[in-house]
Amino acid sequence: MNFEKIVQERYATKTFDGKSIPQSEVEKLLEIIRYASSSFNIQPWIIKIIPDKETKDKLSPASFDQPQIKSCSHLLVFCANKNVSENIDKLEKLMIANGSDPEKAREYTNMMRDFEKGMTDEKKLAWAQRQTYIALGNAINGAKSLGFDSCPMEGFDSDAYAKILNLSSNIVPTVLCPIGYGTDKPKPKLRFPKEEVFM
Ligand SMILES: Cc1cc2nc3c(=O)[nH]c(=O)nc-3n(C[C@H](O)[C@H](O)[C@H](O)COP(=O)(O)O)c2cc1C
Repeated sequence: MNFEKIVQERYATKTFDGKSIPQSEVEKLLEIIRYASSSFNIQPWIIKIIPDKETKDKLSPASFDQPQIKSCSHLLVFCANKNVSENIDKLEKLMIANGSDPEKAREYTNMMRDFEKGMTDEKKLAWAQRQTYIALGNAINGAKSLGFDSCPMEGFDSDAYAKILNLSSNIVPTVLCPIGYGTDKPKPKLRFPKEEVFM
């Protein structure tokens, strides 16, 4: 399926059939997500993968009992990672391991460190969350490209998720992406006309 068709045919799925997506296909989706773009390539996200019924059942009430949570194959919890300086350190090592000149890598990552220092905790979270949504975009279109469905979801209690999933305070559940085989029918796409969208 070409990308244009993927974008047109993907839809926010309300119910899944409960069947499991083969692990090999899930792995392909994870690669599509991992390749997402991010500012400075800092990749400030952690994606928690939940295939098991028990955890999904626990998370359902914290998601307003929306049917996607219990009926999906895997629930992907996209978390913003506020450990930005750790990621910058990791990135510096990765750059050097991949042939960058250590001095140049240090110079470049120091620019990121200055950028990071200039952010309040609140700004850092908002920044990391914005990056996380780019990875989400890869997930929803990537799922369709692999022949299954998904739903981006903000209708959940982030604090409750963090507690149930035992996440550290720097890992902030931001948006969900249940994946599976949809049982509902896509509604006709309602989009504003291009004259109103593009100037
Ligand atoms: C960030 C975000 C959060 C959303 N949260 C929910 C949600 O909690 N529950 C839900 O059923 N749909 C949710 N949606 C789906 C939207 O309602 C849906 O994408 C929109 O109506 C357009 O429909 P389409 O994706 O099928 O084209 C969300 C979508 C986005 C992008």
